[in-house]
Amino acid sequence: MRILVLGGTVFLGRAVARQALAAGHDVTCAARGSSGDPVDGVRFVRVDRADPAGLTALTGEFDAVVDVARHPDQVRHAVAALAGRVGHFTFVSTGSVYSDTGTVGQRVDTAPLLAPAPRDAEDPTRDPESYGACKVSCERIVTEAFGAERVFVCRAGLLVGPEDPSGRFEYWVRRAGRGGEVLVPGTPEDMVQFVDVRDLAAWIVAAAERGLTGTYDGTGAPMTRAAFLADLLPDGATPTWVSQEFLVEQQVEPWTGPRSLPLWLPLPEYAGFLTRDVTASLAAGLRTRPLAETGRDTADWLATAGPGAGQRIGLTEAEEAELLAAWRTR
Ligand SMILES: NC(=O)c1ccc[n+]([C@@H]2O[C@H](COP(=O)([O-])OP(=O)(O)OC[C@H]3O[C@@H](n4cnc5c(N)ncnc54)[C@H](OP(=O)(O)O)[C@@H]3O)[C@@H](O)[C@H]2O)c1
Repeated sequence: MRILVLGGTVFLGRAVARQALAAGHDVTCAARGSSGDPVDGVRFVRVDRADPAGLTALTGEFDAVVDVARHPDQVRHAVAALAGRVGHFTFVSTGSVYSDTGTVGQRVDTAPLLAPAPRDAEDPTRDPESYGACKVSCERIVTEAFGAERVFVCRAGLLVGPEDPSGRFEYWVRRAGRGGEVLVPGTPEDMVQFVDVRDLAAWIVAAAERGLTGTYDGTGAPMTRAAFLADLLPDGATPTWVSQEFLVEQQVEPWTGPRSLPLWLPLPEYAGFLTRDVTASLAAGLRTRPLAETGRDTADWLATAGPGAGQRIGLTEAEEAELLAAWRTR
């Protein structure tokens, strides 16, 4: 198949391109080339989707397209440029499109969505708060342009694995590498949910091959944080469970950033964010590898990719040690 990746210079886009090449497809990636390089073996077309006329270099027809955009205007420009030249279309969306973050076990067919972003608030790079609403707009633009019978909307969950630029999963892989007493948030029964980027990429390529349409969550089954740590921590490392009230009091941030605990979200406000019911996605072909394999491969990537790879976020070693001492004497 002739597969076009709108993106393909970073993380998921690169994983999709790599997977499509491995499956024997003819792969084109279209981007500016400012986030990174496309993988070897693809045809790279330089485009700027911020410009309505910025896709003119993208010629020919495509059996399948995979788009990772966040900006509704970028999606408008692409669907206009590709009209009449496209078969199947996968739009990679996000779990941030859902409006109810608190209810556990929600399904894609019944979960309420955010309202689409207003036209004057459509730049998620200027306002990260508008990210979910912008993705709702993007989903609609694609579906209206190509018709539900040709569109696969894949609402990705937290992506993990090699080449992740966000540093979130990397924090736990690095932390596991140091062993010893490990500060962990909440309780062993709290849930986490994620997908290895390579598994999501494999499903996206398989969806294009099979012509899968409809809307699905692109993430693995939820697991307890205890199981997550059991798969990642080496023998002899011991988790110390620290209450979220203590973390808030100590000004530890959830999810991402400096002085944060990545993959921790306040409960009960976000109890639904990492507990989606993905029975339909698994039935539609999503396959997930063991977490221990993702952890090992991410550690190998960090060891070999050089100092510019990934991102150092989360608690520093000194911050973690101070917090553990404060927890003991509270
Ligand atoms: N990471 C997560 O945990 C997570 C969770 C949920 C959903 N998602 C979704 O999963 C997808 C991840 O995609 P990704 O890993 O490939 O990263 P990404 O950061 O979404 O990639 C954006 C791509 O678009 C290209 N691009 C940006 N501006 C452009 C422009 N003006 N013209 C042309 N191309 C442009 C970038 O390339 P250049 O900069 O080189 O042009 C890059 O290849 C996204 O849809 C994201 O919303 C991610």
